[in-house]
Amino acid sequence: MSDKNIVATSDAEIAVHWQEEDYFYPPPSFIHQANLVDETIGDRFSLDKFPEYYKEFAELLTWYKYWDEVLDTSDAPCWKWFRGGKLNASFNCIDRHLTENKNKTAIHFVPELEEERVLHVTYQELFVRVNEFAALLRDTAKLKRGDRVTIHMPMSAELPITMLACARLGIIHSVVFGGFSASACADRIVDSNSRVLITMDAYYRSGKLLDHKAVDDEACVLAEKEGQKVDTLLVWQRYPGRMSTKTSLVGGRDIVVNEELKNYYGARVKPVQMLAEEPLFLMYTSGTTGKPKGAQHGTGGYLAYVTAMSKYIQDIHPEDVYWCMADIGWITGHSFIVYGPLALGASTVIYEGVPTYPDAGRCWRIAQDLDVNIFHTAPTAIRALRKVGPDEPAKYNYHFKHMTTVGEPIEPEVWKWYHKVVGKGKAVIVDTYWQTETGGFLCASLPGMQPMKPGSTGPGVPGIHTIIFDENGNIIPRGSGKAGNICIQNPWPGCFQTIWGNRKRFVDTYFGMYNKNPSSKDWRDWPYLTGDAAMEAADGYIRILGRIDDVINVSGHRLGTKEIESAALTVPEIAEAAVVPVAHEIKGKEPELYVSLKPGFDPSPELQKKVADAVVTQIGKIARCKNVWIVPDMPKTRSGKIMRRVLGAISNRGDVGNVMTLANPEIVDQIKDMVS
Ligand code: WTA
Repeated sequence: MSDKNIVATSDAEIAVHWQEEDYFYPPPSFIHQANLVDETIGDRFSLDKFPEYYKEFAELLTWYKYWDEVLDTSDAPCWKWFRGGKLNASFNCIDRHLTENKNKTAIHFVPELEEERVLHVTYQELFVRVNEFAALLRDTAKLKRGDRVTIHMPMSAELPITMLACARLGIIHSVVFGGFSASACADRIVDSNSRVLITMDAYYRSGKLLDHKAVDDEACVLAEKEGQKVDTLLVWQRYPGRMSTKTSLVGGRDIVVNEELKNYYGARVKPVQMLAEEPLFLMYTSGTTGKPKGAQHGTGGYLAYVTAMSKYIQDIHPEDVYWCMADIGWITGHSFIVYGPLALGASTVIYEGVPTYPDAGRCWRIAQDLDVNIFHTAPTAIRALRKVGPDEPAKYNYHFKHMTTVGEPIEPEVWKWYHKVVGKGKAVIVDTYWQTETGGFLCASLPGMQPMKPGSTGPGVPGIHTIIFDENGNIIPRGSGKAGNICIQNPWPGCFQTIWGNRKRFVDTYFGMYNKNPSSKDWRDWPYLTGDAAMEAADGYIRILGRIDDVINVSGHRLGTKEIESAALTVPEIAEAAVVPVAHEIKGKEPELYVSLKPGFDPSPELQKKVADAVVTQIGKIARCKNVWIVPDMPKTRSGKIMRRVLGAISNRGDVGNVMTLANPEIVDQIKDMVS
């Protein structure tokens, strides 16, 4: 691919481009049992049959009332899927499996400490625990349909129990990644107007018991300062009967869930019949502005979509033991640890801790001990596992039939290790491309029908019709291998409904670029902008090149450059801040920060540390910067715009290009000297 084919973007520009590799084919043993082997699939899901083909997805669920209309476009581009239909997500993930499978394991919870017992929660136990907790939410916490509740919990069996109890009552959950800081949690409490926060006292990370409740005590204080009082903090106990931390309870606000549940022994709560278009949850994600946005997902469309994706792309059968090694605090965990697999009645594994704790064989021991046969993770974890224990998988007796990757491009070399060593050459691999906003997969190869191509995701999954535009808004011919902005031509049920409380931002960000008629009610006028650069090869496979906006993908997690820069600017000495992604062998990308000082202040290692710490305090450890460089000035255009592209090239030891048009070209060499 020549350079001029690359869309000029912050991330894509520095993306590592690799050679195209061979195809790999699914083994016959997989094809024989695959959920989807159907030569007519392309025809059945062709655009001329849109939107009716999505009925097939909705029919995987149990409805109280069928829908009146598959797609209601009257409020374009806020699509309403299965309008008029009624269902409950908790019922679909639990109750409907009880008749045949109540004694089957729904959740295997694996604590990080190996000496602790693995918890096997059957569907019947899940039913009981979700009902009792739902009663507590309703009667103690006084929550009802449509209320928002923020959940800041580590990986535990109690996290899906909490989510499903919310879903049972029609309460909109907003799960915040457990590793996020008090400040990041407070922002989300405020934006969603949550008066109830649900937490857990403590959890293990790399063998250390972390005092998690203390983080949420602080989150409550910060949220109140910003105008949202948390009147009830529900605290799950890691070890029932005794708090796992020294943190004391705040009278009148804190309730120990394990104690309070004793009042709800045997309680049963009827699932609320939700309209398909009513929201199920919010998931905050990073975008181009400083404030994270709450992606609002609907009940019927979302659940139908993730169930279909789990069935056809992840090939989950009810008898499978499936392990998605992601965190439930991200969309991957929502869709593919909780909702998708449980809607299909499979057994889903939840692992508390670090994949390489206490040693490089941990994951493979878990797979062996629980008979995991489907494994889902991200390239960053695969890279880490390969680095610390390239020969470990061979030592364990497990058999994966199917593996997936998600979140960032995977290098063919890493892909091949995943295939040969982790999959023992016998598992199919599906590289799934999607986003928080999209609810489920956009692109992937069909595991039983299409070959795998290392380094590429697949074509659009059934029902998704991709289109790639160039910078001028012209359609790039299919299969031309030219890079452009990848969009989706048609709406799909998994797509988020809006940004919580900010419809304008939703419309502008995702549909503004290519919509020519803002009053149109025709879905054809509203291609969805993913924000990624991509190219489609002659075989129809898509390769994702990276973000076209100000988003950095660190270990498969999205961080907004503005979020990091705003965090740096909370340090009073800092005048300007600019962050760029730097290639990292395990994480894919890592943020590196450049700051300049206000007059009268001098650079010092203490100040560098202060800025680095401010980023971690404001956002969390995942945003930790590789370096903080205090520079005399930022490279700027004559109109005063910071040239992040130049900083990105310096950080990645690349070519800075022609800098003579800058207002201060001399600064480039000064910064280079400092960084090299
Ligand atoms: C990137 C994660 C390459 C992409 C589910 C997207 C990928 C962003 C892939 C969304 C993939 C996701 N190959 N890049 N298979 N999957 N991405 O919202 O840039 O955390 O826009 O959702 O991750 O990240 P998010």
